[in-house]
Amino acid sequence: MSTTPEPVTVIGLGNLGRALAETFLRNGHPTTVWNRSPAKAEALVARGATPAATAAEAIAAGELVLVALLDPAAAREVLAGAAEAIRGRVLVNLTSGGPKDARELADWAAEHEAQYLHGAVYAVPQTIGTIESSVNYSGSAEAHRRWQTQLGLLGKGTFLGTDAGRASGYDVAILAGMYGMLGGFLHATAMAQAAGVSATELTPMLVSWLTDSFPALSTFAKEIDNGDYSTEESNLVMNQAGLATIIQASQAQGVPAVTLNPVKELIDQQVAAGHGAASLARVVESLRSEP
Ligand SMILES: NC(=O)c1ccc[n+]([C@@H]2O[C@H](COP(=O)([O-])OP(=O)(O)OC[C@H]3O[C@@H](n4cnc5c(N)ncnc54)[C@H](OP(=O)(O)O)[C@@H]3O)[C@@H](O)[C@H]2O)c1
Repeated sequence: MSTTPEPVTVIGLGNLGRALAETFLRNGHPTTVWNRSPAKAEALVARGATPAATAAEAIAAGELVLVALLDPAAAREVLAGAAEAIRGRVLVNLTSGGPKDARELADWAAEHEAQYLHGAVYAVPQTIGTIESSVNYSGSAEAHRRWQTQLGLLGKGTFLGTDAGRASGYDVAILAGMYGMLGGFLHATAMAQAAGVSATELTPMLVSWLTDSFPALSTFAKEIDNGDYSTEESNLVMNQAGLATIIQASQAQGVPAVTLNPVKELIDQQVAAGHGAASLARVVESLRSEP
């Protein structure tokens, strides 16, 4: 893809920031970089990047400013220290955080007459700039339209809307799902090992079963959105009994059921509230945020 080589700034040269800067350099963009520990800029400078002495100096170098810092607090701290340079810039913040963090930084950017895009990266540093990388954006539609070609160098970009918190909202939810699945996977391997089955023996069958189970998530999603949990199939009472059996088996094997017990407690709550005939998806009613 050929792009006009506008100047680009990358703030934060950790694993992600270095990969971002390398991608822009590879595609011919004059790239200014800043990192709290200057040594991390050296390899990029050897490849043509311009080092900035301060974050403000880096931000002053061009309109498009990508931020990849450890966490929202670090991003706020660094940007606040460079506030005088922010006006007229497009901040693309790829630092992981929650929707509230993104909205607060978007408001701060607006107060300083800058445009804000939040980006949630689905890649590892090695895949940035390849077809295996994707980034969800939300925030300024104008900024996304203006810079989508350049941002497209990093990976497939999807714009999710003008609420700056929306990309993070998806992101933290998706990652919560991922960690839940990892917790289940790790518990499964511990139980399998206790039964004399190695993790590598178990995993292909587990993956096959999980893969076959995935379509049920779309059915559950419709039930959750419609608030209609009626089912003729696997209801909460049946799942309560099934999960109790698995927890007992786990404990009998000496594997503490610490990843399973919270799920059982949620099912128990719904059954106790009289919803035993409802679908498993009704558990979400025990997880609703307070109004
Ligand atoms: N790596 C990935 O695959 C990946 C994928 C998706 C999203 N992300 C997100 O991208 C962000 C960066 O990830 P990373 O992998 O690049 O992390 P990393 O390698 O740990 O780098 C962290 C960066 O933050 C800087 N930093 C930390 N605290 C700071 C502070 N108080 N003031 C100034 N700079 C500070 C560090 O500077 P020093 O070098 O001076 O310590 C370094 O540049 C994270 O929010 C991460 O969740 C990463």
